[in-house]
Amino acid sequence: MSDKAVLHFGDQQIELPVLIGSEGEKAVDISRLRDATGLTTYDPSLSNTAVCKSAVTFIDGDLGILRYRGIPIEQFTQSPNFLEVAWLLIFGRLPKQAELDRFSGRLTNNALLHEGMIDQIQHMPANGAPMALLSAAVSSLACYHSQPLAMSDDDAFEEAAARLISKLRTIAACTYRRSVGLPFIYPDPKLRYGANFLHMMFSIPYKQFEVTPEIEEALNLIFILHADHEQNCSTATARVVGSSRANMYASCSAAIGALWGPLHGGANVEVVEMLERIHHGGLSPEDCLKAAKDKANPFKLFGFGHRVYKNYDPRAKILKACCDKVLGQMKVKDPLLDIARKLEEIALADSYFVDRKLYPNVDFYSGIILRSLGIPTDMFTVCFAIGRLPGWISQWREQHDDPTSKILRPRQVYIGNTKQDYVPMEKR
Ligand code: CMC
Repeated sequence: MSDKAVLHFGDQQIELPVLIGSEGEKAVDISRLRDATGLTTYDPSLSNTAVCKSAVTFIDGDLGILRYRGIPIEQFTQSPNFLEVAWLLIFGRLPKQAELDRFSGRLTNNALLHEGMIDQIQHMPANGAPMALLSAAVSSLACYHSQPLAMSDDDAFEEAAARLISKLRTIAACTYRRSVGLPFIYPDPKLRYGANFLHMMFSIPYKQFEVTPEIEEALNLIFILHADHEQNCSTATARVVGSSRANMYASCSAAIGALWGPLHGGANVEVVEMLERIHHGGLSPEDCLKAAKDKANPFKLFGFGHRVYKNYDPRAKILKACCDKVLGQMKVKDPLLDIARKLEEIALADSYFVDRKLYPNVDFYSGIILRSLGIPTDMFTVCFAIGRLPGWISQWREQHDDPTSKILRPRQVYIGNTKQDYVPMEKR
């Protein structure tokens, strides 16, 4: 197999190297194309463009494979420990017990927020969108931790990563408490990551929220399944911002903004709202599919379809199986689960979805589990952000560590006016 592609354009011929990834994926390297030919490439949604080399996460969208640092996602479901996965993503190997203990200790030490930040959250509108508050607060962390990171210093990076992962959880819980008019609850150093989040969300000063092992396991699984997904929209955003050498907080704050949208992480809210509408009789599953197939209607079947997966999303497979277990353990009977199953069944038998290879994605079943844990709908995407944060941090670090990485600055095909003269106001 040739490791070069040849492009003919007019009377020019140029050989383009072909990069081959460790799983055999091939990419034509066009980085010298413009210098050599004057041509750019046009790929507006970047569907066909690899913007970086990365060793963090591997996806085979045709086979429905997802691996973190080479380890299949299914192997993390047995004893879910979110911090172990976070460390693996950031540092590239599984932590030894002492390393995990140190990391966990650093999270505990960093769980509190500066009083100025609590004040800032207090002064935001109580009904403000949680993702807006989250993004603003993460960006503001740069005001409190402004020292630049020495990228070669693993110890300093571990501290910075632990600080951000820990504080995001506290910020998220604070924004919720603010929205329901409850006092902030301080983190409990005895609790593990997910349990501490639920404690800060739901405990009241005179009554500690009881986090059962089942609840803790389900939340950790959700966080783990969201932890990284290679160059998705929010991660690509983090990289675009990071490419200008902006700090990690600015990158992650921007990533939160990207995640908020209904085509990305915001889909988990849309799914549950869609299922609720069906449940309350406002829409039948069949009407829902009809609207999703109607090109004149902007409605989508939320929780279905994916840019990369043309097969069942492996995360959705795990979450679907997890729904029964978790709802059974909680003794919850949620009618939305039956509706989701019915919707999936009829969509997967419909030629529109079959022909386009549209399958349930991670957002289709995650909301049903989060609901059963008592998480309100408007906090679903916040939970996605908490889960995805280690991915953003890993990719930000990988980009900063890469000596060949340059500022991300795409080209365009200009279609505006050709040169024209300025017309003074009185002559217009
Ligand atoms: N409902 C109806 N039609 C769809 C859907 C859907 N959910 N998804 C894709 N299609 C159609 C699309 O209209 C297009 O049709 P045609 O070929 O006739 O023009 C075809 O399927 C191919 O889709 P696409 O537009 O090329 O897909 P994309 O890669 O640009 O978009 C997506 C991917 C996830 C944005 C899209 O599938 C979608 O909008 N899904 C619903 C929102 C959603 O669930 N998002 C969560 C994504 S997974 C988790 C995450 O990353 O946040």
